[in-house]
Amino acid sequence: MIIVAIVLIILCAYGAYWIADLRRLDRAIATLPIPPALPLVGNAMLFIGSTEKILKNLEYIASLALKHKGAVKLWLGPKLYIAIGNPEDAQVVLDNCLDKDAVYRFLRPWLGRGLFIAPLGLWKAHRKVLLPIFHNKVVEEYLSVISTQADVLLERIAEQSGKSEFDVLKYITACTLDIVFETAMGERMDVQHTPDTSYLRARHTVMTILNKRFFKVWLQPDFIFNLTPFAKQQRENIEITHKFTDEVVKKKRRQQNMAISDNQLARQPKTVLDMLFGREIEFTDEQLREHIDSITIAGNDTTALVIAYTLVLLGIHQDAQNKVLQEQKNIFGDSKRGALKEDIFKMNYLERVIKESMRLYAVVPIISRNIHKDIYLPHSNVTVPAGAGAVVGAFAIHRLESLWGPNANEFDPDRFLPERSIDRHPAAFIPFSYGPRNCIGRNFGMIIIKCIISSFVRSYKIEANDLGPLKIEILLFPIKGHQIKVTKRLP
Ligand code: HEM
Repeated sequence: MIIVAIVLIILCAYGAYWIADLRRLDRAIATLPIPPALPLVGNAMLFIGSTEKILKNLEYIASLALKHKGAVKLWLGPKLYIAIGNPEDAQVVLDNCLDKDAVYRFLRPWLGRGLFIAPLGLWKAHRKVLLPIFHNKVVEEYLSVISTQADVLLERIAEQSGKSEFDVLKYITACTLDIVFETAMGERMDVQHTPDTSYLRARHTVMTILNKRFFKVWLQPDFIFNLTPFAKQQRENIEITHKFTDEVVKKKRRQQNMAISDNQLARQPKTVLDMLFGREIEFTDEQLREHIDSITIAGNDTTALVIAYTLVLLGIHQDAQNKVLQEQKNIFGDSKRGALKEDIFKMNYLERVIKESMRLYAVVPIISRNIHKDIYLPHSNVTVPAGAGAVVGAFAIHRLESLWGPNANEFDPDRFLPERSIDRHPAAFIPFSYGPRNCIGRNFGMIIIKCIISSFVRSYKIEANDLGPLKIEILLFPIKGHQIKVTKRLP
């Protein structure tokens, strides 16, 4: 009896302390507006429903932020978040809060402590080692792999030439998968011809389950998730993907240890995995797998989506497509050869088109960080207490009229002309995030995007009507897909 009473007293004391702590957090940013909330669940209803509805709710949160100080607070169950829709506060958060938000923990069984979700201490040490591997000079060496896969893509697209609209994303995703697998680990997967393998099926299943978990709040607590069939399915499919990367890592380690293969290795451009051996940190096989999995997962769908959005936009804006084509003709004449690094630097107009595409359709629309120490946000004039989370709305910042003018929703690549960009806030354009934990593969991503669009536009005329409504499934997708029509250009 006494023990029960003691336990009850401890529980009550803990509950009272917990509620007092939540009140303290809430009071700290009391001046910020909050969308209508329910007891206990807070604003969690905004994240329930179809992925289209969730995006609409995010737009509503952004509009509320716009009317106030560019930020709102949200209670998602017991966790307080500040949702940021202005570049000044985004810059402070992305410069200072380098720890990923707790929501990324769902990726832990898959990516372990790979760079994408590595905890702060480990991330600092590993990012320093990985950074030179993604330097422009290094990733330019991959241009021949990219061009070869771009040629395969063009052959595959031929089956659609002169026909009605089709979703181009699945063609592009297969192409970027081949590029990322070959450059990251030296594996020629040939996804463009063999898209149905057990590894790719497993990868897709894990991603689908993770996406469900991110947006279905009732699946978030581990004890509920573990009771559903998704838990077993996730475990089994993660095992398949781990086995695949583990085997590649073992093979590479053997090659690294055998002097004979040195000559062989020297002939090809070094893969990311090759370069992860013999660095200042001696990575274990498990760490290598976690980094390679993180890189192939973070780098593939993002790059494919940017290419697909840009192709649709070029199909809608024929004037921009003609300008891109003219620039390509100035560089390549009538040649269909793959791009070299000196060509890439000359694609200035195309670069503006890609940036404008990433501005209007930020494929990573929100970036979440953990606030590990109290932080003052100058624009909204609040000090966000440690223990809260921050959600930076790139999609909202990218369309602010105060930054982009009254035609912020219109497609205008020339807004990225140097003379028009000079006074823009450094965190106004954040497709690759911002600050020390920004995208490590951004140069590589831009090279892939430029090289593939260059080949595509030289071979095909693109037509498109619109993108239609969008949905958020971690990344940003048009509900009807990336529909375009293509016609082969005459030689
Ligand atoms: C255009 C294509 C790409 C876009 C839009 C993009 C976007 C992003 C964004 C927004 C982040 C930060 C995410 C966050 O903090 O939640 C990120 C991180 C990351 N990206 Fe990319 N990315 C692209 C291409 C790539 C490529 C090609 C690679 C590698 C092959 C890559 C590898 C990574 C990695 C490893 C991280 C984690 C970095 C860290 O935490 O230090 N990304 N990316």
